[in-house]
Amino acid sequence: MGKPQASEVFSSFNSRYYVKSGALAALPNELANLGLTGTCWLISDTHVGPLYAPSVIQALENAGFSCQRYDIPAQEASKSWQQAGELYTWLLENGVQRGDTVLALGGGVVGDLAGFIAASILRGIAVVQLPTTILAMIDSSIGGKTGINHPRGKNLIGAFHPPRLVLIDDAVLSSLPRRERAAGWAEAVKHGVIADAALFDDLERAGASLNDVPANITSELLVRSAAVKIGVVNRDERETGERMLLNYGHTLGQAVEAATNYKRYVHGEAVAIGMTFAAKLAVELGMWTNAEAERQRALLHALDLPTALPRDLDIEATLAALNLDKKRAKGSVRWVLPTRIGHAQVESHVDPELVRKLVHELVDQA
Ligand SMILES: NC(=O)c1ccc[n+]([C@@H]2O[C@H](COP(=O)([O-])OP(=O)(O)OC[C@H]3O[C@@H](n4cnc5c(N)ncnc54)[C@H](O)[C@@H]3O)[C@@H](O)[C@H]2O)c1
Repeated sequence: MGKPQASEVFSSFNSRYYVKSGALAALPNELANLGLTGTCWLISDTHVGPLYAPSVIQALENAGFSCQRYDIPAQEASKSWQQAGELYTWLLENGVQRGDTVLALGGGVVGDLAGFIAASILRGIAVVQLPTTILAMIDSSIGGKTGINHPRGKNLIGAFHPPRLVLIDDAVLSSLPRRERAAGWAEAVKHGVIADAALFDDLERAGASLNDVPANITSELLVRSAAVKIGVVNRDERETGERMLLNYGHTLGQAVEAATNYKRYVHGEAVAIGMTFAAKLAVELGMWTNAEAERQRALLHALDLPTALPRDLDIEATLAALNLDKKRAKGSVRWVLPTRIGHAQVESHVDPELVRKLVHELVDQA
């Protein structure tokens, strides 16, 4: 795929992916074009709903759609059985039908939960993703994974339910908190390292300005980053091979999130730490050059993302969480390790003692 332009439309196994400033205004037309003419059940959260739901609903109603709205509490804890149950009740009591559409307006939390509701209510109705965080735009809205958390771990209950449409209006990023912005770019850095060296170069050139650049620069990088994920999931929808590369930085990242009770870091920050660790491991194993690993660290640092483990982290709890990693195969953790910028591979035979040693070395010495 050549360099995609902003506003280009991709097709990702039965989903359309559409990016344009002001795109939310085009939603009624886009729904009609897809034959989605039933009631729209807009699910958002308590931060995003008040900002953007009224104009989306107004545009839909002006075009003759009937629309209902529900704002979930803006927190990861909303990806729960209890919240799902409340949404099922809301939909059923208000007469949801098979031909209706769930609209997920928000970040990955709203997208995962609303997607799961759409996958399961009445054995499945259409979902349209309207992502409002960088992470949701380039990552979680693509690929059809939906789900909720269980007390035993994140995202353990869910279904593959590809959205009929992902419609991205980058104008909504103006209200996204800077910390969430940086965390979203961490996933773009990941896409650059595993699959697109030119994307990495351009992210590197933009550096710290990514956290506050005007939308016209941002949207091209968003589209190119999304294109990496779309390409990977198109080739490996069910995560049997290449899709595992998207877990780059997630192995240690998720262990750090678990060891800190999902409270200290937002996801992209934990992934930044995880990528720094994977880079260190790849260098130690002679798979990657120190110079390229340092470029990655410098870019993450420029984006204000963490690249070391905090001194008060419970290392044993982190190593224990690593071993619980649901993606481990035959008793060994699968590491995604870069071999050059733009290319990575999965490595299952890494000595746990080396991992332990390097985890200790990653603790912040400052
Ligand atoms: N399905 C997948 O493939 C996939 C992939 C990666 C992550 N995820 C999931 O995504 C979730 C994280 O998503 P996230 O990082 O988008 O977090 P999030 O949904 O919690 O959003 C982050 C915060 O930003 C606020 N916000 C969102 N958009 C805003 C905007 N435009 N203006 C102002 N505030 C805004 C939200 O209310 C929230 O407080 C996790 O639950 C993770 O498991 C899923």
